[in-house]
Amino acid sequence: MDPRLGLTFDDVLLLPRRSAVFSRKDVSTRARLTRNITLDIPLISANMDTVTESGMARAMARMGGIGIIHRFLSIEREVEEVRKVKRAENVIIEDPFTVHPDITLGEAKSFMRREGISGVLVVKEKGGKRQLVGILTRRDMLFETNDAKKVSALMTTKLVTALPDIALDKAKDLLHTHRIEKLPLVSAQGELVGLITLRDILERMENPTSAKDKKGRLLVGAAVGVKEDTIERTDQLLKAGADVIVIDVAHGHNLRAIETTKLLRKTFGPKIEIIAGNIATPEAARDLVKAGADGLKVGIGPGAACTTRIVTGVGVPQLTAIMDVAKEAKKLDVPFIADGGIKNSGDLAKAIAAGADTAMIGNLLAGTKESPGEYILDRGVAYKYYRGMASYDATSEKVRVDKEAGTRQDEFFRSPEGASGRVSYRGEAAMVITDLVGGLRSSMSYLGARNFKEFQKNAEFIRMTDAGKVESGPHGVK
Ligand code: XMP
Repeated sequence: MDPRLGLTFDDVLLLPRRSAVFSRKDVSTRARLTRNITLDIPLISANMDTVTESGMARAMARMGGIGIIHRFLSIEREVEEVRKVKRAENVIIEDPFTVHPDITLGEAKSFMRREGISGVLVVKEKGGKRQLVGILTRRDMLFETNDAKKVSALMTTKLVTALPDIALDKAKDLLHTHRIEKLPLVSAQGELVGLITLRDILERMENPTSAKDKKGRLLVGAAVGVKEDTIERTDQLLKAGADVIVIDVAHGHNLRAIETTKLLRKTFGPKIEIIAGNIATPEAARDLVKAGADGLKVGIGPGAACTTRIVTGVGVPQLTAIMDVAKEAKKLDVPFIADGGIKNSGDLAKAIAAGADTAMIGNLLAGTKESPGEYILDRGVAYKYYRGMASYDATSEKVRVDKEAGTRQDEFFRSPEGASGRVSYRGEAAMVITDLVGGLRSSMSYLGARNFKEFQKNAEFIRMTDAGKVESGPHGVK
């Protein structure tokens, strides 16, 4: 057997072409995520527990991309993360957070901290209906030092409310006239049915290109596995508003993954968007699309925290994997994500030029403000943690979560296929995304391409020697 050559991003460069594109602004980065979902930028935050929960997913959708909530959570918690994204920037929040007037200020504060809100509506149940009795605002709590006080003693009871069908401009007028931040929507029968907040209106004005669903809510995806709870998990995630379900397994060309794809399609019909993966060959693309996938995820072992190739000896260098799958995916008219190994905007450009529709980012986003967890300051340098989902750390945590949920009895015994460690703190995710997209746009202008179709058509790769690689980086500059 004569092995063929597999290449990856650092092995190649793109040839510059005659170009009539004069500015980065003149190119479109619109990309297909699945057969039915299109994004303004081709970027997806990875379904990893050190990368994407609601904070990152909100940031991604605001920039025109999407985040996929990871599955290493109980069903309830994963669903809640989806809900949190759907609540943001949704000018009318249909199911606002509420508390009971009899709880203490301390209890209300910890609830608000957990949910990331600055004030909360206070309701009493009457005949199964929620009656609004007050609102606990930042100002109500500001100088109160006694956490044992009841919410009812502190809340504002003189309320400005509106009927649920109020027009947005009218709502803005009310918020302005009364100098308030929250406008509860109360039905003619006195039942609380929604909430409009100043924060959501401002965020919406600041992010006009956000990726939105039909109801105007931010887009979000969620990952599921191939275990017994998959149908239940998917059902609840869809009910919470997840726009796309990602079947997340290390080896997507495994019969279990194919069967799960079929089962999800059969159970939920055409209304579910399924991305299946991970794969690295055209045969796998064909099998998963036949099973019902609307999108694919390509990458076996290229990720920054992956050790699959070392542990198993299996994998395909990522550029070759993208090129191989691209031929088949174009025939099937199914878009795919290049997942893993993107170290800079040049890699992103090469991935798209080679045929991928979008790219999934783990490592570069793990160090940002919006990834789960706090940053650590060590001798003046800021870090965050990043770990492969098949690392010892992540898998043993998953066993703990599953045992708590009663869905697993056995102990963890697999050999890990992922690493864990520190990554530099990088500030806001928006900066990383702007940088990646800026480089991609520039690359497109070098190739005379106004959109991805032209970019892929004009793309010609040239292979480099080691000397070429040295020449490609900064050198001779101190
Ligand atoms: P980057 O390079 O952006 O890659 O950090 C993110 C992708 O890496 C994959 N991933 C893993 N692969 N073992 C692996 O072999 C792991 O433990 C692991 N965790 C994540 C995944 O595809 C992710 O999107």
